[in-house]
Amino acid sequence: MSAETERRTGSLVFAVNGERFELPTVDPSTTLLEFLRTQTPFKSVKLGCGEGGCGACVVLLSKYDPVHDKVEDFTISSCLTLLCSINRCSITTSEGLGNSKNGFHPIHQRFSGFHASQCGFCTPGMCVSLFGALVNAEKTSQLEPPSGLSKLTVSEAEKAVAGNLCRCTGYRPIADACKSLAADVDIEDLGFNSFWRKGETKEVKMSRLPLYNCNDEIRTFPEFLKEEIKSGVSLDSKRYNWYTPASVEELQSLLKGNEGTGTKVLVSNTGMGYYKELERYDRYIDLKHISELSMLRIDQTGVEIGAAVTISKIIKTLKHENWHEFLPRDEIVFKRLANHMEKIASGFIRNTASVGGNLVMAQRKHFPSDIATILLAVGSTVDIMSGHQLERITLEEFLERPPLNFNSVLVSVKIPSVRKVNPESNTILLFDIYRAAPRPLGNALAYLNAAFLAEVSPSEISDGILVNHCQLAFGAYGTKHANKARKVEEFLTGKFLNFEVLYEAVKLVRATVLPEDGTANPAYRSSLAAGFLFQFLISLIDSGAKTTNGFLDEYKSTSLIKHSELTQSYDQLYSDKVPTLLSSAKQVVELSKSYYPIGEPIAKSGGAIQASGEAVYVDDIPSPTNCLHGAFIYSKKPLARVRSIKVNSSPHPDGVAAVLSYKDIPELGENIGSKHKFGTEPLFAEGLTLCAGQRLAFVVADTQKHADMAANCAVVNYGLEDLEPPILSLEEAVKRSSFFEIPPSIYPKPVGDILKGMAEADYKITSEIKLGSQYYFYMETQTALAIPDEDNCIVVYSSAQGPEYAHSTIARCLGIPEHNVRVLTRRVGGGFGGKIIPSIPIATACALAAHKLRRPVRTYLNRKTDMITTGGRHPMKITYTVGFKSDGKITALQLEILIDAGIFPDISPVMPRTILSSLQKYNWGALSFDIKLCKTNNITKTAMRAPGDLQGSFIAEAIIEHVASSLSLEVDSVRNVNLQTYNSLKLFYRDSAGEHLEYTLPSMWDKLAVSSSFNQRVEMVKEYNKYNKWKKRGISRVPILYTVLMKPVSGRVSVLKDGSIIIEIGGIELGQGLWTKVKQMAAFALRSIQCNGDGELLDRVRVIQADTLSLIQGRITGGSTTSESSCAAVRLCCNILVERLSPLNERLQEQMGPIKWETLISQAHMQSVNLSASALYVPDASSSSYINYGVAVSEVEVNLLTGETTILRVDIMYDGGQSLNPAVDLGQIEGAFVQGIGFFMFEEYLTNSDGLLITDSTWTYKIPSMDTIPKQLNVEILNSSHHEKRILSSKASGEPPLLLAVSVHCAARSAIKEARKQLLSWSGQDGSESTFQLDVPATMHAVKELCGLDIVEKYLEWSLGQRKSGGAFYNGMNADRKVKEAIIR
Ligand SMILES: Cc1cc2nc3c(=O)[nH]c(=O)nc-3n(C[C@H](O)[C@H](O)[C@H](O)COP(=O)(O)OP(=O)(O)OC[C@H]3O[C@@H](n4cnc5c(N)ncnc54)[C@H](O)[C@@H]3O)c2cc1C
Ligand code: FES
Ligand code: FES
Repeated sequence: MSAETERRTGSLVFAVNGERFELPTVDPSTTLLEFLRTQTPFKSVKLGCGEGGCGACVVLLSKYDPVHDKVEDFTISSCLTLLCSINRCSITTSEGLGNSKNGFHPIHQRFSGFHASQCGFCTPGMCVSLFGALVNAEKTSQLEPPSGLSKLTVSEAEKAVAGNLCRCTGYRPIADACKSLAADVDIEDLGFNSFWRKGETKEVKMSRLPLYNCNDEIRTFPEFLKEEIKSGVSLDSKRYNWYTPASVEELQSLLKGNEGTGTKVLVSNTGMGYYKELERYDRYIDLKHISELSMLRIDQTGVEIGAAVTISKIIKTLKHENWHEFLPRDEIVFKRLANHMEKIASGFIRNTASVGGNLVMAQRKHFPSDIATILLAVGSTVDIMSGHQLERITLEEFLERPPLNFNSVLVSVKIPSVRKVNPESNTILLFDIYRAAPRPLGNALAYLNAAFLAEVSPSEISDGILVNHCQLAFGAYGTKHANKARKVEEFLTGKFLNFEVLYEAVKLVRATVLPEDGTANPAYRSSLAAGFLFQFLISLIDSGAKTTNGFLDEYKSTSLIKHSELTQSYDQLYSDKVPTLLSSAKQVVELSKSYYPIGEPIAKSGGAIQASGEAVYVDDIPSPTNCLHGAFIYSKKPLARVRSIKVNSSPHPDGVAAVLSYKDIPELGENIGSKHKFGTEPLFAEGLTLCAGQRLAFVVADTQKHADMAANCAVVNYGLEDLEPPILSLEEAVKRSSFFEIPPSIYPKPVGDILKGMAEADYKITSEIKLGSQYYFYMETQTALAIPDEDNCIVVYSSAQGPEYAHSTIARCLGIPEHNVRVLTRRVGGGFGGKIIPSIPIATACALAAHKLRRPVRTYLNRKTDMITTGGRHPMKITYTVGFKSDGKITALQLEILIDAGIFPDISPVMPRTILSSLQKYNWGALSFDIKLCKTNNITKTAMRAPGDLQGSFIAEAIIEHVASSLSLEVDSVRNVNLQTYNSLKLFYRDSAGEHLEYTLPSMWDKLAVSSSFNQRVEMVKEYNKYNKWKKRGISRVPILYTVLMKPVSGRVSVLKDGSIIIEIGGIELGQGLWTKVKQMAAFALRSIQCNGDGELLDRVRVIQADTLSLIQGRITGGSTTSESSCAAVRLCCNILVERLSPLNERLQEQMGPIKWETLISQAHMQSVNLSASALYVPDASSSSYINYGVAVSEVEVNLLTGETTILRVDIMYDGGQSLNPAVDLGQIEGAFVQGIGFFMFEEYLTNSDGLLITDSTWTYKIPSMDTIPKQLNVEILNSSHHEKRILSSKASGEPPLLLAVSVHCAARSAIKEARKQLLSWSGQDGSESTFQLDVPATMHAVKELCGLDIVEKYLEWSLGQRKSGGAFYNGMNADRKVKEAIIR
């Protein structure tokens, strides 16, 4: 190396939030996330998935261009970005935007004020995603926005966070927080918030928002780094094993002799999100700096794109460059390509993901790429460099070749111009792209994608349109790579389009686009191909086409047209293809001042620090010296002997300190991982694994990465000798009588005389329903940190919903007294029931390892391990016989329910009670049941938000729907006739029915019908369905009923010398706003002392972490009532304090007149008044259980060609009692509802034949995202009557509203019913009612299957028949649009 070069290379230098970091050495496989979380104080960057799928780790990356003196800012996923790739860059995290010390950024404040942060784990990533959009919007030449707003548009603001997942809020408040900064926002459209009050003017509202001033810009790139860049020092490649060739020649010499094992060629490493390679590389070659790979060239022959160019840059170029000069006829093609690319991954991935990386993944590893398909259709070519040879081949050839070898590089890709078409001829070019995926806006791989390019011309001599030429590409459907449908292309070429031709083409496409064996839902994917081709060509076949210009105009406005004729803006034209996200929504809450500040919609306690990322979760606690990290090795077999577990095999068990198993349990201890009311579960399998996912061992290593790698590479030797086959199904469990006992005391009681009820029935039907599982998907996975303390004690930080349970389990496992154990929990990044029992073994394993090794041990489960080892919702099978009258009145219901509890009982024995409780929302006449809890060799199922109740509510609706369809009655009328009256309610709910006035369901049922215009909309839906063939709508109104049980909770309130107040509480803050309500309660209860300034008491209160040694009897946080019980406990404490302080207060007031709170407290301290009070709230047995009510109306639209369900509008009315905090309750209602949508519509929990979860990542498990929630979600919280026996008349909100989501499923079913009627009519059959079951979740393929996988063929056959017989028909495509518009108007 020359002296010159020597001088110019240096260390890895970058900035984080303006702070300089220089790392003399680093393992080049280190990700930015790992570095930030372990080496800096910036913990806002959260690990949610580690695969680019959630956005919790998003940071802003800023690059400086010294030549143009410009800074480029864009968001990235820090979990996939390798540290060396950010040399000389600057990173901004949420802390860098603002913080508690220097002041929060308005983004933080708005997230907090719009109630957009619940558990807060997703919030910093959301804030940075929004900030990234804001920074870039401000750089544009858009008109200056009105004061206080940014240049962002509403649509951009929403999309800024569309790739970020949130499991708590339901997204609506997040969208509002984002939109509040948009230039075109209508402030009246923004939802409930803590900034303004109803009735204030727009100006006042605006003035109340935390000020955003675009001139207060955050310097994303520090000056010192600019100077360093100007000095021209580059990274010392050898030292870091990180090479950044600047030219193709340099790259060639680096690649010489590369066999692919030791060298990793990369651009942005996002491919790791999918492939999660475990290989360790000796060196990395970063292609970003090679000019040939980074160029974007446009000339008359087309666009040439360097392989390292990012997808975002391509989108920007294709969308916004002025193409007219070179390629006037290509604009639409480019814009469509760009539009499609916007559906690839999410913004923070596209910002770095390269086109070359994508194509190489597709070519080498069969990645289901979108880019390969769309570029294939437009006849792209690629340049490949192998050694010194540069070769240009078609993309098609490239894809068909054997995998690109490791010393070859993809240099560029070229999209040719479509100029071949003569602009003067009457030839028309058609180009369209299609994609079916679980999420419309992206962040989900496609089930199938397709792109079609065709040159057609209207014929003067013949009927119709002539296909001159076409290119039809299909991909991502389960083949090695994207393919052209050659046979179909050949068939269509030279043909005049008509129904016969289309029918043949569709049949041919279905026979051509065939997924390979092993692909999920192959028939569905083939049917998508048929549907897309149909959609592409049908608008060209119309009776008006051959004769009038009118046809052409019509046709041109719906498909591709000559550029010169494009008069409307692109977005207007294709507005039905670029879905807007959310429309404005209403939140109606009635505020009550009776118990001020209770009832105030104050912002969530800690909302702002959650947004800035300063809130500390367990994994944010800095590691103590010598800390080790653990990872579980789990079983992949359901029932097998574990002969041995080896972690010392290759590749790299680096840093492993120990592998613990049941053999390491201390002599006086016990192999116990969790303990609860119904039994215990072992920490590790003892020689025999009983289910896939069971913990076998705990690898402890120096870093989490090493522990994870070692666990991942562990080789478990299983033996099956002398073992019975495992029980993996409910049927098998029944066959082998494998059941858990259900204590008779909690087994529900039948109602009425079933024989009599059945005898009264006019009809009886019997059927079966199956329900699957659901995973929690809390954003913070299971985590704990255990620190050995003096005298054989141990302190454990646990992300737990029941630290007390972890406490006693740890003591038993270690064989030490409970007073030697202390468990601390400050906040939990989402629980949903999954951190009640499943968090205990996590804490216990860390404690065991720490105890044994005498070193601190922590773990943060990776998403996959978390998903596989943590139970989830209970699957079940229900067989019912229902008897009913001809008007739909049900007289008797007989149920047999088999519940899959998994291998250990956990909380499962409560399931019969909870299922029945919500199912009884209808008066079944007589009800009898036989419920069995099956013990299977599946992972233990445990409580998930509304356990059992959710299924019960669904079962009830499925039965009602069945009755309605068998009688051909409107479902709503059958619901109506079977709703409980107060008298029947008392029969079904003996202990919890309450007073007549409390039964608010019937009145809400009617009120919501009015406020949601239910009856009018039912008619509109009918009208819509009459005129639309390819989209059908459904609407459904559903009631829910949910019983909760108040539980004892302890609390302590202490007043410090300065008058500030500390609260300890048994309940845990999970994001549900418990601390906020508790603070309000303390302020309310202490106000009765009547001091000056008691209005400020709220600000004086701090709730602190749960500490199982400081406050005992904390119990578990779950069942929706912990906030209320915690408030009750705090009220008891405050009452004690008020009683103690009152005499002194009176004395002082007599002497001094009105006194201040701090004066009273300082006097009380001087006079030794006991200012710490604790209490255990124990609910009154007579009122410990009450019922919650709600109603929802949901309207959906089903696309019959893809099976996609769009939730158009939801109206909810929920009885919140007198809400303790309506903002918190609203958040719970919306969040729960959206989680319910996940269960009913999206979340596929699939296992392999051994019961091992296979939908174990963000790639395969799709929770609702911003683009799949209801477009409009209106919520009204009914402020129902005062009730002396409830806590300040409040009611629960955490779980019950989840059940309302069944209305979406019912609405989808109703839309499908219409589709099936239509399908039947096409087959010449009577289109009346057909009985069918819609799976849960009602995924796209499930819906499409019911709508007819061959719907297109059936339609074409019918059309052909109609033509032959001379009947009138229309294709319905354009009618779809017209009726939609009419309805929207
Ligand atoms: C969360 C997520 C969602 C996604 N969703 C979609 C989607 O919906 N549709 C879709 O099409 N794609 C999707 N992708 C894929 C994404 O487009 C690719 O990960 C990305 O384009 C790869 O670019 P990269 O620069 O990060 O490649 P890298 O990860 O750096 O490289 C990927 C592979 O290609 C090799 N490589 C890279 N460039 C070259 C080159 N020029 N020559 C030879 N070899 C090379 C590397 O060695 C590596 O093996 C998604 C990715 C993520 C993470
Ligand atoms: S942790 Fe990076 S995207 Fe999920
Ligand atoms: S607040 Fe979004 S995940 Fe909890």
